[in-house]
Amino acid sequence: MLDKLIRKKGGGAKVEPDDAIIPRHVAIIMDGNGRWAKKRSLPRIAGHHEGMKTVRKITREADRLGIKVLTLYAFSTENWKRPKPEVEFLMRLPEEFLGTYLPELVERNVRVRMIGDHEHLPPHTRRAITRAMEATADNDGLILNFAMNYGSRAEITEAVRSIAQAVAENRMSADDIDESMITGALMTAELPEPDLLIRTSGEVRLSNFMLWQLAYTEFWFTDTLWPDFDESRLQEAIAVYQARNRRYGGVDKEDTD
Ligand code: FPP
Repeated sequence: MLDKLIRKKGGGAKVEPDDAIIPRHVAIIMDGNGRWAKKRSLPRIAGHHEGMKTVRKITREADRLGIKVLTLYAFSTENWKRPKPEVEFLMRLPEEFLGTYLPELVERNVRVRMIGDHEHLPPHTRRAITRAMEATADNDGLILNFAMNYGSRAEITEAVRSIAQAVAENRMSADDIDESMITGALMTAELPEPDLLIRTSGEVRLSNFMLWQLAYTEFWFTDTLWPDFDESRLQEAIAVYQARNRRYGGVDKEDTD
């Protein structure tokens, strides 16, 4: 099937996704900014800055392809352990990104959202994100969902706490707890689960990202560093996704004898 998706163009093989089965939700762990910078003898923050440009490129391409939700892991709850100047730079990036591209996002009907601990972000970061969420609240095109100060275990812990609280206050019984209730108590409650997870830079781990939501997601890893990631790599990831056979723990129809 993959052969069908590979079209020869100008002698080189180009992988083109099939419009009919575009994943609804693509989640990306954007990794490799530091290594990209190091290879060029630049400071790590130069890699993050270049990575911000890739965010724009991939948002446009996701929109063009008809993806409904693009979740980008921009800052984890563990990233606070980085040197202070790097953290400060990363906390300035949403302002720079949204300061530059918000008009374009509005024009493209993109809706900006955020998952993560909003409250403990620096006020300037919070303001930039809140402003963008407000300015795009009525848009119904691509959802650009930033995971910022996000940690999946913290998210699940908070969901469990809120459910336990409801039981303690006799608003429901422990027997009422089911998977859909937990799904609904997460920050992603209104979003479909990711169909495709991409991680760049050759690392093959989840790093506390969407642990509940990724239960049936297809994973695709690439050695490409995030600043070098581009439209053609996204198309390749989607073509590979389309060639996969998602069974959700079941079996194929023809194997049900
Ligand atoms: C991981 O690479 C990357 C991050 C922790 C930050 C990701 C942020 C961006 C790509 C820019 C975000 C833009 C907006 C608009 C919020 P790394 O530093 O761990 O790379 P390394 O593993 O090579 O050191």
